[in-house]
Amino acid sequence: MALQMFFVLSLLLAMTSPSASDNNPGTTPHIQDICIGRCYDYSQIKYKSVLPQASGSCEELADKFFTAFSHQPPCSLSMAHYQPFMDAAKQALPEDKALFWSGVKQLAHEYAGDGRRFVTLEDTLIGYLVDGLVWCGQGSPPGQNYSRCPSWNDCPLESSESFWAAASKAFAESARGRVTVMTDGSRADRPAYRRDSFFGKYELPFLNKALVTSVDVILTHPLDQPAVETCENGSLVQLMQDVTARGFNFNCEDDPQAILHLLCADDPVIRECQLVTKYMFPGRGDSEKYHPNHPPVLNSKPNLFESTGNTAGLPYY
Ligand SMILES: *[C@@H]1O[C@H](CO)[C@@H](O)[C@H](O)[C@H]1NC(C)=O
Ligand SMILES: *[C@@H]1O[C@H](CO)[C@@H](O)[C@H](O)[C@H]1NC(C)=O
Repeated sequence: MALQMFFVLSLLLAMTSPSASDNNPGTTPHIQDICIGRCYDYSQIKYKSVLPQASGSCEELADKFFTAFSHQPPCSLSMAHYQPFMDAAKQALPEDKALFWSGVKQLAHEYAGDGRRFVTLEDTLIGYLVDGLVWCGQGSPPGQNYSRCPSWNDCPLESSESFWAAASKAFAESARGRVTVMTDGSRADRPAYRRDSFFGKYELPFLNKALVTSVDVILTHPLDQPAVETCENGSLVQLMQDVTARGFNFNCEDDPQAILHLLCADDPVIRECQLVTKYMFPGRGDSEKYHPNHPPVLNSKPNLFESTGNTAGLPYY
């Protein structure tokens, strides 16, 4: 009987708690500890020999981040609130390494290789500390809302959106040399380049004309989907105009080999990925599949492109 009561109660709780009825979680529990831990991981291990480090201490950085949104209304937090954190966490970026992305977060990160090939915003300390976390403030104690945070669509200056806007701007301002932009040219619902995207609003306009030489676009397409846009048409034409109008060189490549090989690692048997087999083992026909005893061991095949439609919960872009 007691057990039954327990189940009924849990069911009722599950049905009425806000996190069950919508998928907007509140501030990530232990957020400050997570930031401090990530900061030490970043500076002592993961990026220690890869990137120049920031000057602020980890406790100071976590504190500056936490202070920026705590006790603040969740829906009207200006970018300026995060400036003390951005200033303390800012790093110098190596030349030719900045990689901006739009709609292809996971693919861009796989390509970047934790800062070894390229450096994404999430490979900088500013992005690394809070990537994937949720946060927002409230007026009453403790100052952070742990039950529900608004989504980006709910309000104009949502706390984490203004953070990512400020972070994107700071990242763009520190880029030097050639900068690379990876974006998806296969989406019917959203062009590869939009002036009102994060890249269009907070990154391209803030590239330093004295430091940046060219904008190199990598236009990707999922292996099994037709190209809606290529480097020659669609929104890429406008991107070329916007880039050259700012005085930068513009280059664009559709599906570079390196990206195809990355995509093929997860999908080696698909027709588009037979290049290596054909070249190295010309005797094998198309019907010969990847060695059945050694398929890639994945829990499930990752989708390296953002799904269409719902972008709730995804970080910016
Ligand atoms: C937490 O956020 C939710 C959703 O915005 C709001 O309804 C609730 O009142 C907030 N809690 C506090 C204590 O402000
Ligand atoms: C761009 O070019 C590709 C390949 O020629 C074509 O399939 C696609 O429909 C074109 N898109 C636009 C927007 O013109």
